[in-house]
Amino acid sequence: MTTLTLRADRRALTLVFDTGDAATYPALFLRDNCPSGFHPQTLEREFDLTSISPDIEIASAEISGTDLVVTWQSEALESRFTFPWLLTHRPGQPTKDPADVELRLWRGETKKGDLPTATAAELLGNDEALLSFLIETKRTGLSLVTDLADDPEAGMMLARRIGFLRETNFGVTFDVMSKPDPNNLAYTSHALPLHTDLSNQELVPGFQFLHCMANEATGGGSTFADGFAIAEDLRAEDPQAFELLATTPIPFRFQDGDYDIRKHHTVIDRNADGSLVELRFNGHIAAVFDMPSDKMEAYYKAYRTLMQKSRDPAYVMTTRLEAGEMIIFDNRRALHGRAAFDPSTGFRHLRGCYVDRGEFDSRIRVLSRRQMAVQAA
Ligand code: OGA
Ligand code: ZN
Repeated sequence: MTTLTLRADRRALTLVFDTGDAATYPALFLRDNCPSGFHPQTLEREFDLTSISPDIEIASAEISGTDLVVTWQSEALESRFTFPWLLTHRPGQPTKDPADVELRLWRGETKKGDLPTATAAELLGNDEALLSFLIETKRTGLSLVTDLADDPEAGMMLARRIGFLRETNFGVTFDVMSKPDPNNLAYTSHALPLHTDLSNQELVPGFQFLHCMANEATGGGSTFADGFAIAEDLRAEDPQAFELLATTPIPFRFQDGDYDIRKHHTVIDRNADGSLVELRFNGHIAAVFDMPSDKMEAYYKAYRTLMQKSRDPAYVMTTRLEAGEMIIFDNRRALHGRAAFDPSTGFRHLRGCYVDRGEFDSRIRVLSRRQMAVQAA
């Protein structure tokens, strides 16, 4: 049986559920989340916290079936909360999120065949297959789609099934090929060492989709690495270097005739609890360092150590994309690169786009919602 205790000062109550879970709910929290304060359709809160006293007191609290019913000293309102809601929102208990996926770090022994893989048809036609593929893509930060139609829209259409595309100065979609007059080293035939894209942007684009349309030239192989594995190993092996990279903002810059997009970022970004958020690592668009002179040598050494790790076969997966394949990776975690190619020997063309992390996670949640409804039915 669930038991209820009202605190002597009437500013909180404690429930001990028959599951054994216990939680204390402050009066302010209950009032702020009273269902009457939410728009029934949009589910947004319309209640205004400033309309009540911060010292609001509970007049009465009782259990009625599987609801908690609360009344208030200061207003004629009955607030009703269901047990499932109260259990889900026990203060101090992070709300469950289907998009909270435990990451699996990987290193250089990983092969293309080890990646989460699905055919384009499966992902386009089957919500369940798409959901598990998105979860696994988030877990590893790198996955592969096969059997795409020989159509420049085929990969982009799949990305759009996940979320709207993130437009950048390179367009909504972009074509990676050797071009006359390039404004980006990717649009040459040069090698690209491992990097993340667009670290010069205020919000670096999230998941990147690269549909290989043709890869017939000599050279042009691909490399990938898990930036989080590299950063975690650096944290263990050289904590000072890790700290410098996580606390020193450096400038990044892209410039051409139309744009000059600049942003200072730390190379490593972490949460308050130390877990990794993001790696921003792109030697091509790192601008001229502007930290104080006496900090420069130590910073350069730390940065160079990270760079050296990104060249270490212990981390680097070397592979080759074939026409009809699409690689998907978290551009804020995975590093990608390519070998130089000889455009006189054949055509090489990747078509790309980005879907930001927020939209990617949203698709995981919405697909999970449908699956949970099917399970419940
Ligand atoms: C890019 C890029 C990789 C490739 O376009 O940013 O890194 O294989 N391309 O061409
Ligand atoms: Zn790139």
